[in-house]
Amino acid sequence: MAFDLQRARLETPGTAHVLHFNNAGSALPSQPVLDATIAYLQREAQIGGYEAATEAHEALENTYHAAAKLIGAQRSEIALTESADSAWNRAFYSLPFKPGDRVLTSKAEYHSNYIIYLQAQKRLGITVEAVSNDEHGQLDVAALRQRLDERVKLISITHVPTSDGLVNPAAEIGKVAREHGILYLLDACQSIGQMPINVETIGCDLLSATGRKYLRGPRGTGFLYIRNAIVDQLEPLTLGGFSAEWTSPTTYQINAGANRFENFESAKAAVVGLGVAIDYAIQWGLDAIWQRVRTLACDLRARLATLPGVLVHDRGLIQCGIVTFTIEDREPAAIQLLLKRQHINVSVALRTFTLLDLSERGLESIVRASVHYYNSEEEVERFVQTIEMLL
Ligand SMILES: Cc1ncc(COP(=O)(O)O)c(C=O)c1O
Repeated sequence: MAFDLQRARLETPGTAHVLHFNNAGSALPSQPVLDATIAYLQREAQIGGYEAATEAHEALENTYHAAAKLIGAQRSEIALTESADSAWNRAFYSLPFKPGDRVLTSKAEYHSNYIIYLQAQKRLGITVEAVSNDEHGQLDVAALRQRLDERVKLISITHVPTSDGLVNPAAEIGKVAREHGILYLLDACQSIGQMPINVETIGCDLLSATGRKYLRGPRGTGFLYIRNAIVDQLEPLTLGGFSAEWTSPTTYQINAGANRFENFESAKAAVVGLGVAIDYAIQWGLDAIWQRVRTLACDLRARLATLPGVLVHDRGLIQCGIVTFTIEDREPAAIQLLLKRQHINVSVALRTFTLLDLSERGLESIVRASVHYYNSEEEVERFVQTIEMLL
């Protein structure tokens, strides 16, 4: 069935104002997300915050069910958070590491994750090693296998790096983790919402996700998936009255399920908006979204690559909606500024965001143009023409 681009754009008010190729930063929300979020805020103002939450119980509950459905999980396996980083941190620091334990990760790991690894090396006496890439630039699964021993307690991988169009072979890595009984944490921040993700197919035990990127949810939203089979082994680093119960003057009981990772307070309007955003993505169909995102990105990459002085940097056997490039003798930040003047949004990824990877590739910074299904072929055309004019 043909993709209904007209409807996608009509239901995305931002498309009338900007050419938005910064979906890997924060995508344009749809009208239903906007309506639900604003309506909720209005109810808070009209009847009070707690009262609005009671009234909207079903809509708030729906966000858990929607997130669970999106990734093939159960409702009890979802904790809502305010970002992917907060989901990831809570998961990582709940793991029962002992000095000498090893963590295997990828070269293109996101800076927030790697900074935590470095902190955990100091704090907990564990070691963290980045597995080499294969000839396609993605994590080398054979090299991962070679690094395994009984001290490896976690495989922690970024599915789609922040500064590359590649998709790491998450399910192949999951197979290795399962074969060896090693916990597997997947940073799905950039992949969630642009491609189908199923935690059973991938075989991960923990997964972190954000709301504002490819899911098109409100800012300040995210979620953590924790497999029911392991949750009882995990004690969050910090607890509160919503994640545990104060059972006697000297005791507390941690809540069952993923709920142990949640705070009492959250931006409820944004939580409702996230649920609507996930339902909306499911309605379009993740397969259809993925196909369209890839087609647009592939077209954009191919056309940029023909321009003199433009270097496209994406690697990987499977490429996603993130398109990265540089222009000879031009600063990526200056390109971003020039594009902004034409009402075109892109972002710039700095070397420090994925330090191991971009340092190895000799790149200080790169332009990141990230497309979504509501972007049009005309926008790709206009983008390429604008870049051509800048050369
Ligand atoms: C791969 C990856 N992981 C994690 C994050 C952090 O996401 P958040 O800002 O929602 O915490 C980002 C943000 O760009 C990212 O690209």
